[in-house]
Amino acid sequence: MSNTQVVKPRIRGFICITAHPEGCAAHVREQIAHVKKDKPLKDGPKSVLIIGSSTGYGLASRIGAAFGSGAATLGVFFEKEAEPGRPASAGWYNTAAFHQEARKAGLKAVSINGDAFSNEIKAQTIEAIKSQMPGGKVDLIVYSLASPRRVDPKTGDVYRSVLKPIGQPFSAKNLDTDRKAICDVTIEPASGDDVKNTIKVMGGEDWQLWIEALEEAGVLAEGAQTTAYSYIGPKVTWPVYRDGTIGQAKKDLDRAASAIDAIMKCHRGRAFVAVNKAVVTQASSAIPVVPLYNSILFKVMKEKGLHEDCIEQMWRLFTKQMYNHNCLEFDEDGRVRMDDWEMREDVQEAVFKIWPTVSTENIDQTTDYDGYQANFLKLFGFGLPGVNYDAEVELDAPLV
Ligand SMILES: NC(=O)c1ccc[n+]([C@@H]2O[C@H](COP(=O)([O-])OP(=O)(O)OC[C@H]3O[C@@H](n4cnc5c(N)ncnc54)[C@H](O)[C@@H]3O)[C@@H](O)[C@H]2O)c1
Repeated sequence: MSNTQVVKPRIRGFICITAHPEGCAAHVREQIAHVKKDKPLKDGPKSVLIIGSSTGYGLASRIGAAFGSGAATLGVFFEKEAEPGRPASAGWYNTAAFHQEARKAGLKAVSINGDAFSNEIKAQTIEAIKSQMPGGKVDLIVYSLASPRRVDPKTGDVYRSVLKPIGQPFSAKNLDTDRKAICDVTIEPASGDDVKNTIKVMGGEDWQLWIEALEEAGVLAEGAQTTAYSYIGPKVTWPVYRDGTIGQAKKDLDRAASAIDAIMKCHRGRAFVAVNKAVVTQASSAIPVVPLYNSILFKVMKEKGLHEDCIEQMWRLFTKQMYNHNCLEFDEDGRVRMDDWEMREDVQEAVFKIWPTVSTENIDQTTDYDGYQANFLKLFGFGLPGVNYDAEVELDAPLV
């Protein structure tokens, strides 16, 4: 039975509850085209596990590995399939489109939809590596999860991550993207177990559990690398980001990187944290202050010819760092800085010259509001050229 519908964006706060199958496919093809503009990687990865592979940085990493290096990819994600009269989630459609394009290109693609924090999905992934990935091993593991909750696989306890400052409330200028208005926002500080819980969800524990499980199962290839993604950003967001609850989780990621590096070294490999630039993703739209910062940042970076989205970032990470004669450049804390252009002095200076001048009345002149919004809608497959958004589309999309 067919399951067709005209799909329009339905936005609720910082999330769009609908996704367009053909638009998501067009977005995936756009990212593939970006990678294919360049020569394929010479000594790139060949068998890659991406944890959090359906949207944002994880999807871009998967596309880069597959279409830029000819890698077989195994993606793990948590997405919703379509139901009668209800579209699937964007990540589902992205993955369905990825499979379709991979099949056309003769690339192996395996996907597992389920809770990456659980022992069951880890075991299922290991089985899939053994039975379906080249040589039964992986040579790159990308950890790109962004989740609001985690069930501890040992105890069954549920932890929720929060985006809060620590110690005192934080007030700042904010962009209400729904109303296209500048307002002030105050976020109350973390209380109770907020910090501990956020570290449990977004810290390095699960990344470490994954690598330990892969090592124990003997599926890490000689020279295998693993990376997890982090963010630092400008001082104006530090109270709610770097110095807030999420920042403590990201510090824990740095701790885990050292522990994991020791495991990877036994296989002549390595582990590191890559600090990526601020982009619009489902995860980042939820962080107060970030939409305003991003819409100014995009204006500045576009004017300077430095604008990057997930695919540009991940492709640069692969081509200029990870698979560039094996010569990663680390900062003093051992991280790879893909936010180097964002944090450039002239970029930050320009952003913070604009920041105090932004008001509801001059949003279009002072920020790239339209670009930000277009970017947001694109996450859900809307606004892509060549897609007829007035036509009924099939909502069911297989992942093979
Ligand atoms: N967005 C930014 O501006 C930005 C900047 C720098 C670093 N980062 C980091 O990059 C990483 C990825 O973030 P993103 O912005 O690409 O997020 P995203 O929301 O686009 O992607 C999250 C991915 O995690 C998957 N996922 C969530 N919960 C899961 C679960 N329980 N089991 C399996 N899969 C699950 C989703 O299906 C999706 O594939 C995060 O660590 C984030 O902090 C993001």
